[in-house]
Amino acid sequence: MQNRQVILSRYPDGHPRAEDFEVVSIDMPGPGTEEVLCRTRYLSLDPYMRSQIAGRHISGSIAPGDAMRGESVAEVVESNHAAFTPGQLVRGFGGWCEYFTLPGSALSPVNPGLDRPSLELSLLGMTGLTAWAGMIWQAEVKAGDRVLIPAVTGGVGSAAAQFCRLRGAEVIGTAGSEKKCAYAVEALGALACINRHEGDLAGQLDQHFPGGIDVYFDLVGGELLHLASERLALQSRVVLAGLMAEYNDAERAPGPPPGFWIRARATIYGLVVYDFEPRRREFVDTCLPLLREGKLDQREDMTDGIESAPEAFCRLMHGGNFGKVVVAFP
Ligand SMILES: NC(=O)c1ccc[n+]([C@@H]2O[C@H](COP(=O)([O-])OP(=O)(O)OC[C@H]3O[C@@H](n4cnc5c(N)ncnc54)[C@H](OP(=O)(O)O)[C@@H]3O)[C@@H](O)[C@H]2O)c1
Repeated sequence: MQNRQVILSRYPDGHPRAEDFEVVSIDMPGPGTEEVLCRTRYLSLDPYMRSQIAGRHISGSIAPGDAMRGESVAEVVESNHAAFTPGQLVRGFGGWCEYFTLPGSALSPVNPGLDRPSLELSLLGMTGLTAWAGMIWQAEVKAGDRVLIPAVTGGVGSAAAQFCRLRGAEVIGTAGSEKKCAYAVEALGALACINRHEGDLAGQLDQHFPGGIDVYFDLVGGELLHLASERLALQSRVVLAGLMAEYNDAERAPGPPPGFWIRARATIYGLVVYDFEPRRREFVDTCLPLLREGKLDQREDMTDGIESAPEAFCRLMHGGNFGKVVVAFP
């Protein structure tokens, strides 16, 4: 049996390109004591991987020659751990490769009854948990709140928009195309969506938030963080979670003046999803029934095969994805 893996071949210069990565053949791993051999079925691609490459992520760095890391849904092939049996679907950090071994203690069974196992990596997975932690546990979004969510059709944004809608809040999203904006309104229940590439962003925010922004879920940093901070309502909440506008830059950008936050008596949260891992069960138990009842939607931007992973990742870092980015393995 052949096993392949994606490695970083060189540091990207700004936006990553497919040539910065290489698909290489590696030995087939054998499971040791208490370990499980798994075959990747779905691989999650996420912006934090760009930060790992830049040496700025809390989970560690990736240098040229290193294997790309990431979370996947995989099928158990061989198990030396009592909790797992061949054929079972599991979730774990297997990396960008076709086969991997992990200790059984590092694997979780995939929730039963999902019509798409990849949902374990998206709405019911890390991106969904991030959205729930930010909007429900931190900002405590409630009926009547006016919420601004950038990248609203992406993994975190689309989940956040739906969670806020279910709480009775009004969501205004931003997205990178008219097609994405139409989806945000029609499928995600956003009240409106601003195409971030068209027209005057500040003016459009003024139009949609005449009374100010109650909750801003910052997934991008940059200009929008400044504009949103300038327009906060009294007692507003800002959840700082991501820096899409800055990940590809070598230098860190300065933030908005703190005076914007003081004036609004705002509460600012920093969000790291790993902190909420102990509460994942609580989140899944709430959202799995909603998903089964068709009350939640998850669009996935899915490509096929390990060879497609570098290009799919580069597209994500350019904002070309439409939905949560996942690679399916045949
Ligand atoms: N703090 C945490 O624990 C945590 C956990 C998970 C994710 N995150 C963060 O959440 C954010 C979203 O992650 P995701 O996986 O759901 O990705 P995603 O939203 O599916 O994809 C990223 C989106 O960001 C937008 N974007 C790209 N470049 C941009 C730019 N220069 N300025 C503004 N927007 C840009 C694009 O959407 P449009 O073109 O449609 O605007 C793109 O589709 C990322 O910043 C990520 O790092 C944080």
